[in-house]
Amino acid sequence: MSIAKPLPHDAAHLHVTGAARYVDDTPTPAGTLHLAFGISDVARGQITAMDLDAVRAAPDVVAVVVAGDLPFANDVSPSAKDEPLLSDGLVHYLGQPLFLVVARSHLSARHAARLGKVEIAEEEPILTIDQALAAGTRFEDGPRIYARGDATLGLGGAEHRLTGSFEIGGQEHFYLEGQAALALPGEDGDMHVISSTQHPTEIQHKVADAIGLPMHAVRCETRRMGGGFGGKESQGNALAVACAVAARLTGAPCKMRYDRDDDMVITGKRHDFRIDYDVGFDGDGRITALDVRQYVRCGWAMDLSLPVADRAMLHADNAYWLPNVRIESHRLRTNTQSATAFRGFGGPQGMLGMERIVDHVAGHLGLDPLAVRVANFYASGGHISGTMKRQTTPYGQEVDDFIADALVAQLRKSAEYDARRAAIAEWNAANPVLKKGIALTPVKFGISFTLTHLNQAGALVHVYADGSIHLNHGGTEMGQGLFQKVAQVAASRFGVPLEMVKITATDTAKVPNTSATAASSGSDLNGMAVKAACDTIRNRMAEHLAQLHQCRPDEVLFDAGRVQAGAAEYSFAEVAALAYMARISLSATGFYKTPDIKWDRIKGQGRPFFYFAYGAAVTEVVIDTLTGENRVLRADILHDAGASLNPALDIGQVEGGYVQGAGWLTTEELVWDDTGRLRTHAPSTYKIPACADRPDVFNVALWEGENRADTIYKSKAVGEPPLMLGISAFLALSDAAAACGPHYPNLQAPATAEAVLRAVHTARGDV
Ligand code: MTE
Ligand code: MOS
Repeated sequence: MSIAKPLPHDAAHLHVTGAARYVDDTPTPAGTLHLAFGISDVARGQITAMDLDAVRAAPDVVAVVVAGDLPFANDVSPSAKDEPLLSDGLVHYLGQPLFLVVARSHLSARHAARLGKVEIAEEEPILTIDQALAAGTRFEDGPRIYARGDATLGLGGAEHRLTGSFEIGGQEHFYLEGQAALALPGEDGDMHVISSTQHPTEIQHKVADAIGLPMHAVRCETRRMGGGFGGKESQGNALAVACAVAARLTGAPCKMRYDRDDDMVITGKRHDFRIDYDVGFDGDGRITALDVRQYVRCGWAMDLSLPVADRAMLHADNAYWLPNVRIESHRLRTNTQSATAFRGFGGPQGMLGMERIVDHVAGHLGLDPLAVRVANFYASGGHISGTMKRQTTPYGQEVDDFIADALVAQLRKSAEYDARRAAIAEWNAANPVLKKGIALTPVKFGISFTLTHLNQAGALVHVYADGSIHLNHGGTEMGQGLFQKVAQVAASRFGVPLEMVKITATDTAKVPNTSATAASSGSDLNGMAVKAACDTIRNRMAEHLAQLHQCRPDEVLFDAGRVQAGAAEYSFAEVAALAYMARISLSATGFYKTPDIKWDRIKGQGRPFFYFAYGAAVTEVVIDTLTGENRVLRADILHDAGASLNPALDIGQVEGGYVQGAGWLTTEELVWDDTGRLRTHAPSTYKIPACADRPDVFNVALWEGENRADTIYKSKAVGEPPLMLGISAFLALSDAAAACGPHYPNLQAPATAEAVLRAVHTARGDV
């Protein structure tokens, strides 16, 4: 069996030698044209004049396209049809595409795009959460509210009560491969699009609408992305549609890739939040009532903001039982990039809000935050002690698989949390300038798309007469290792070595109507669909052999590349050839839909998640109280991947997720100026973690235990949950600042050196 083996990524040898092909590496036919957008230089206004003569006259320019030239739909939105490919006259953010240049080279297109003279009657942009609240610009009529018990009553009667306000910055995806697409026009109007996308079906759909054809005339193909992280769920639509429109217009293949600065200025990022809270608790820090208001800065278009904001609400409890709770969510429209999916999809912001509240409660009572966490955990295993009753989340889902208590207890021991906390207190007492901090935080993350119908997947498997296997499914590969995991499933079902399975590009012509590879559900959904397809073929083979050898089909065994039927033994290739000669179909589709989920997003009631994934991290940091500079010294992680399909890939996801989460909450700061210009639009000003920022000591282990829910080989989704382990780095920095004085440091995210310095002064009472 190739299941549960720590095999390397299937394309690792191609990644490290530079031989892996991304969209921009695809050999293009002669005459391929290149595209660039002319973008807005102001954040809000109305176009009064567009003089594009200089653009048209620029060297190598073949065509210039404005909104009025578009033959069909001018829309690249994944949700509300509120996102024109090219401005229809209104300008909504600085960076919005206004016109499209088609030229003979990438550089010529970019040069020419700078030559447009666009006059815009400027209006005052709405940039901040406060400005949007004042102007009343929002998606949905009013706030969404999920509640249980009576928060107001609970707060009134609480023994202790605290209020606070907490800012959480956004995050640039910084996928190493920028957005890219290539459109190859075929005969009779057909369009073949190669796109760096997590969602080939949506590219197919948006392209079909834009060139006025049924979906059957458009085919989208994706072999791999150089990272997506949610940034390629919807943000690739504009490039693919632009390429298809230009290819239809010119009859030539058209390619587009954003330069890094353009990518950062044009595309959406993680939503920034402000979270205001009012919390009631007892002397042990047990929370009796909580009122949370989440203010979500969505940017100019709806994109995926509603489900992102919903998921933030669904993670406002994290791992804690809240008897009386009210969660209010405001989805605010601003003249900034349209914020979009980013690893965790709102969950991280909701969860960080809760962890920060728990930290504040502990700080107020002078307790170890870990003691307050443990006091508030959901009941072990979900059962309320002595009864068969289960605790439910604020949205009414039974927490029937709770293991965070046991997992945290194990990590607490293996990471020597208590001894180190004592040692740090001693160290801090002796060191006036440098201060250390430590934090242990848990993760409970809900797995499934909250839009229930998206929880489906398809697969297509062929076995050739030589026994080699062609594997295809609706999931996309973005570095997470999905293709390898699913290939391991296929190899296991046929009992053949992994080399017999050919991994092939995601292709809307092979598997239709796919969901985005998102919500960490790639292996859960596609693994099951592939299993179904393989089992169909295997059962046909087994029935044929059973007839030949007078045994039952379930007595035919497929293992180690051999097939046994009664007294006979064959190689898998011989069986494939036999089946072919007997005119048995060796091709099958597979399909899967997640069972047992039901969700009403308006009422905020139901069972949106099939199960929860858990994890916990302890981070130790040191800060310089004179400058705010800081380092992560050590991180210990225990993460729940169920019965892992591939521990090597899963540990990679855990390490990468933690570092990306810690980056979000420390050095990665997005800064817009008062005109709405993104000032941090390149690696020179936007700091993602580098190799040297890896914790000096980094102990990562997987929790031993299988998924309670019936998933593929009892594994658990692992793509997004580890990002939230990075919260421990943020709260360790807060802990270090807290060592500087008697006050709660009120650290805001991201904890840049400046923010840490402010927190030090706040703790001392200087500000
Ligand atoms: N890992 C790598 N290396 N690159 C990525 O782009 N995306 C993350 C996560 N891990 C990502 C990644 C996100 S946002 C999601 S939703 C999942 O992978 C998607 O893949 P899965 O469903 O197969 O886990
Ligand atoms: Mo991931 S944010 O669901 O693409």
